[in-house]
Amino acid sequence: MNDEYVLQLQHITKEYPGVVALKDVSLEVKKGEILALIGENGAGKSTLIKTCSGAVIPTAGKIVVNGKTFTSMSPQLAAENGIAIIYQEFNNVKGLSAAENLFLGNPIKKGIVIDKKAMEREAEKAFNQLNIKIDPKKLVGDLTVGYQQMIEIAKAIKQNARVLIMDEPSAPLTSAEVESMFKVCELLKAKGVSIIYISHRLDEIFRLSDRIVVLRDGEYVKTLITKDSHVEELIHLMVGRDLTETYPARTDCINRDETVLELQNVSGNGDKDISFQLHKGEVLGLGGLVGAGRTELAQMIFGAVEKTSGRMFLKGKEIHPKSPRQAIDAGIALVPEDRKRHGALLTISVKNNINMPTYPKISFLSVIKSRKESEVATYYQKNLLIKTPSIHQIVKNLSGGNQQKVILGKWLAANSELIIFDEPTRGIDVGAKVEIYTLINRLVEQGKSILLISSEMEELMGMSDRIIVLAEGKITGELKRDSFDQKTIMRMASAV
Ligand SMILES: Nc1ncnc2c1ncn2[C@@H]1O[C@H](COP(=O)(O)OP(=O)(O)OP(=O)(O)O)[C@@H](O)[C@H]1O
Ligand SMILES: [Mg+2]
Repeated sequence: MNDEYVLQLQHITKEYPGVVALKDVSLEVKKGEILALIGENGAGKSTLIKTCSGAVIPTAGKIVVNGKTFTSMSPQLAAENGIAIIYQEFNNVKGLSAAENLFLGNPIKKGIVIDKKAMEREAEKAFNQLNIKIDPKKLVGDLTVGYQQMIEIAKAIKQNARVLIMDEPSAPLTSAEVESMFKVCELLKAKGVSIIYISHRLDEIFRLSDRIVVLRDGEYVKTLITKDSHVEELIHLMVGRDLTETYPARTDCINRDETVLELQNVSGNGDKDISFQLHKGEVLGLGGLVGAGRTELAQMIFGAVEKTSGRMFLKGKEIHPKSPRQAIDAGIALVPEDRKRHGALLTISVKNNINMPTYPKISFLSVIKSRKESEVATYYQKNLLIKTPSIHQIVKNLSGGNQQKVILGKWLAANSELIIFDEPTRGIDVGAKVEIYTLINRLVEQGKSILLISSEMEELMGMSDRIIVLAEGKITGELKRDSFDQKTIMRMASAV
């Protein structure tokens, strides 16, 4: 036994019908270290960490916790042995308070009655320990995602977790929330807790981790000491090749002056007096902080929420989209930010998901339809590098990032004139990001118009021809490509 390690995964293999998700993968976690786990979409990261909680039972291999060997885990075994996992969808109950969630399944009782006061006191202590400011009485549903995540971390620590595993914890957070989460991670590390941290954001990996384990195609590639490694090396190990151009160049389409979408003093859904024009073959970036009203604007254009005043024109014709269906028929597509909730139908196939928006268009002639559908699905599977054994695979069985690619493919296949992308590359690995940018470029070259919402400043500046910035539901500035500047955009974003 090696007592340097709190957790060891030894020769883990996981096979699904037609898919080998993990092939003989081993890794070790030291006491009080932050170990980053990285790899492309579908590399096997989530599957590997799920073996630690029993959510996935390995086909072969061993899990060694503090010297005790297991061939598989269960949630109870994991808890007893000090392992806690924070998944992307938290298991919290929105209608209960922060304190009640912290003690979920394990309430403090006075006799047979639940002692609410005591739970609130204890919750306060637990939050204080992690330097997080949450009112224990507050309903979890009223807290931001960042705070909900903090409660999950507090819960793990309260249950004496010695190894905390986090699967893409930063994905749903604002940058301020990411900072708070990092502080909590550092604090836990100082207390000797070990952390396994999964993320596609390499800057976070370099800031936070001590060592990095790289997976590729279900296989272990290498372990690196973070301070001795370099981002290019990391990318090379992840994708197996060098990535040269992050933002591929595009050629302008013809007739670029033609206006495709025009908003005149549009208000509603929290936005006020929004006016702008979007041209043919243009990528218009929407900048702003989380909560600035960008998603809200997208929802109005897409008809998911009706505007209360102002006018909207598509190719010079006034439109009043009252439902997404109407917007889709008018030639507008929206790739939503919250893809789990609005995006994919998890229990149907890749092929059917991708073809979903076009169903009313190709409804009769069913023989041609099926062949055409397979063609379309195969095209996007190839171009978006969707990792799946076939287009007939059920979307639920794909990795998180690959599910997102299916939803992207679905809206690209809709062949709309105007496509609104809300955070298109969230949860997407570095290699596939470039493919998505290339696809966006191809659309623009064909004369489609793009409205791009992105919280990644680099992406926004790298992809947009023009950026308008929103703050508190109002437009606070506009920049053309040659005057893009991070500081100016930030200043506009925090205006008002
Ligand atoms: N229940 C399942 N049935 C079939 N295949 C599965 C199942 N669960 C996972 N897989 C496959 O296992 C592979 C690894 O998936 P996993 O979710 O671990 O990837 P990941 O590294 O977490 O990717 P991402 O960055 O996209 O989240 C994928 O090819 C996925 O399609
Ligand atoms: Mg995953």
